[in-house]
Amino acid sequence: MKNGIFLSFFILIMSYVIFYHGMIFSADYGYVGVAVCKECHGQEAMGNQYKIWLASPHSKAFLTLKTDRAKNIAENVGVTSPIDDVRCLKCHATGGGKNKSILSEGVGCEACHGPGEEYHKANIHVDYSSRENGYNRAIKHGMNPILGINSLKRREKLCLSCHTDKRPCYEYDLKNPYKYRLPIQTIDSLMKDGVNFSHPLRK
Ligand code: HEC
Ligand code: HEC
Ligand code: HEC
Ligand code: HEC
Repeated sequence: MKNGIFLSFFILIMSYVIFYHGMIFSADYGYVGVAVCKECHGQEAMGNQYKIWLASPHSKAFLTLKTDRAKNIAENVGVTSPIDDVRCLKCHATGGGKNKSILSEGVGCEACHGPGEEYHKANIHVDYSSRENGYNRAIKHGMNPILGINSLKRREKLCLSCHTDKRPCYEYDLKNPYKYRLPIQTIDSLMKDGVNFSHPLRK
């Protein structure tokens, strides 16, 4: 009898976990790289988000690891080869550098928008009759919900996961300790010091 009660209790809890959290069995989506996004998001009629990203520092994040400055920073923390080390790739490459074939893109689209293996497909995130439906479907297939003013908190968390002062390359400037902190205005509008990171879809 006791066993029976315990068993039903166990099943109840497990179904709760599976139903609400799904994640224990949910797919671990892979990264496809900017070239795939570019096929559509490289078109002028779409807003050419690719071109805007390419001109931004994020597209150079991996190349930065090849500089002398990177080597110096790396030496200080016992890293011998920054371009091969997860302690640098964690933030200087898409998906922490797990997919070696897209290392050189640096911080690509999917570093912010989430692994695109599933949602990049037109039948998932493109919906001309209702963009909101397309977006919601994409979110169910791995896209990060970071768009719009309602997602500002989540977006802030995303940006600060890399733009933290707890990183080997953070430079403390005693006169101006907040110098390298990412201001909330930048997170909000993706604009900084005249450099425009903003890459809207269409007017
Ligand atoms: C087959 C073409 C195509 C590909 C490939 C594609 N997209 Fe899109 N994407 C679109 C279109 C079209 C929209 C506009 C959606 C709408 O109007 O329903 C869109 C919208 C978006 C949006 C805005 C949110 C939304 O759903 O409206 C984001 C973010 C996005 N795409 C990111 C990406 C990323 C990142 C990749 C690569 C992993 C990618 N897309 C690949 C066509 C594509
Ligand atoms: C996966 C890690 C990662 C994420 C997520 C990320 N960044 Fe970055 N960001 C970097 C790296 C690395 C650089 C430095 C690139 C270089 O110069 O080589 C950078 C550079 C920048 C710069 C230029 C440097 C500066 O401070 O002037 C800005 C601005 C910036 N990011 C804004 C953002 C915003 C806003 C977000 C969130 C929407 C964001 N980043 C998300 C890693 C990241
Ligand atoms: C937690 C995330 C994170 C990790 C880990 C990280 N970086 Fe960075 N790195 C950043 C961000 C964010 C920027 C852009 C900062 C800015 O310009 O505001 C950056 C910028 C840089 C820069 C250019 C700016 C400068 O200070 O000259 C170099 C070089 C660099 N990182 C090297 C490294 C090396 C080498 C490692 C590994 C030993 C490493 N980083 C690990 C996030 C990270
Ligand atoms: C540093 C993080 C970051 C990177 C890298 C990045 N995006 Fe975005 N993207 C964002 C954020 C944040 C927004 C939401 C801006 C807003 O809501 O105001 C956005 C918005 C978008 C939108 C929707 C714009 C709209 O009108 O609603 C599309 C489409 C998009 N990104 C595609 C891409 C593609 C394609 C790439 C790569 C070529 C890319 N993004 C790279 C952070 C990023």
